Amino acid sequence: MTSQSSQTIIDPPEDGHFRDAENSATTQPSPTTLSLHLTINGRDHALEVEPRVTLLDALRDRLALTGTKKGCDHGQCGACTVHVDGERVLACLTLAAQVEGRSITTIEGLADEDGTLHAVQAAFLEQDAFQCGYCTPGQIMSAVACIREGHAGSDEEIREYMAGNLCRCGAYPHIVAAVRQAARELRS
Ligand code: FES
Ligand code: FES
Repeated sequence: MTSQSSQTIIDPPEDGHFRDAENSATTQPSPTTLSLHLTINGRDHALEVEPRVTLLDALRDRLALTGTKKGCDHGQCGACTVHVDGERVLACLTLAAQVEGRSITTIEGLADEDGTLHAVQAAFLEQDAFQCGYCTPGQIMSAVACIREGHAGSDEEIREYMAGNLCRCGAYPHIVAAVRQAARELRS
């Protein structure tokens, strides 16, 4: 005759380690969020984010500014290029918390309030400098900074200083032509 045990079966926790309730209460990290105020395209935005949230995810997922694209999410393609205090940065490698109090510009903020396109945006249209368009916001933001930095004096220089922005469609000759045209127009 077999004896039935009255043992209670307890499923192990997901990480496989049992802890007593008291210890568990003292070792569990409490959720932490930061209250941030970001100035984006001249407007202030208040948001609560975890410290690990990137500027790219804050823009796209929290503020619905989806013009800034996520390509590699590892700093290798340039699709996420935005300006911080006028300088180009990769939003996927920048924490939202790092840019509080700075002036952030995205592709949505490049045209004038009345809708007049920035010279670089207009040049990209005139030169047909895109195919699928996925890399285009990052290319344009990078090109604006490249011209402002004084690094658009020749096609070679444009190619060198735009090298961080990849285009899987291979629209490079048209992109260089657009940057050349915009640089000429902005100089005159
Ligand atoms: S998404 Fe940031 S560099 Fe590719
Ligand atoms: S236009 Fe398609 S990736 Fe550049």
